[in-house]
Amino acid sequence: MLVGKPGAMNRLNKSDHAMQNLILIGPMGSGKSTIGKRLAARMGKRFFDCDRQLEQHLNVDVSTIFDIEGEQGFRQREHEMLKSLCALSNVVIATGGGCVLRDDNRSMLQEAGVVIYLRISLDRQLSRLSRDKTRPLLQAANRRARLQQLATEREPLYAGIADLVVESGAHSVAKMAATVHTLLQQMLTPAPTTHVQGPHD
Ligand code: S3P
Repeated sequence: MLVGKPGAMNRLNKSDHAMQNLILIGPMGSGKSTIGKRLAARMGKRFFDCDRQLEQHLNVDVSTIFDIEGEQGFRQREHEMLKSLCALSNVVIATGGGCVLRDDNRSMLQEAGVVIYLRISLDRQLSRLSRDKTRPLLQAANRRARLQQLATEREPLYAGIADLVVESGAHSVAKMAATVHTLLQQMLTPAPTTHVQGPHD
């Protein structure tokens, strides 16, 4: 399940503020919200989902924001919401899959928390999103091709800012949250004997 990241087991070079926060990134359907909620409960942190916060704040859903303001308008609102969430302490934040497209978001997220990338295979992603009608960028005739295209563009952006990479979709939410929690505890108090398999092992 855990992929780890080279060097991730060393104490992270993060501010005290950032060490209190967890930020989940990854594509649509990777489980950012469900795992984030569970992690927050386990770790005694407050949970925020950026899209849900935007919807509550504007009193419309994400599709309506896309319809009225286009993707560009949505991205600006997403940026502003992320900025407010990143100012909070002791929180878990589930981000939207496309927030990494902006350079300023990527640096903001890295500075605001420990960034966990939930990676998922295309097949699992497709099956988890098979009944979804709420995500505007999924409204394509060929969903597989759309998701593949988004993954090709975004995978390097996720990987580039991740402090930890976790393979999602194969295990229960409870198991994922427990394992990520344990790994985070290890990251904060590194023991010389601890080893997490890296992608090149
Ligand atoms: C998007 C992902 C969605 C939401 C919006 C755009 C994207 O969030 O922000 O539909 O660009 O991948 P989830 O990743 O939570 O589905």
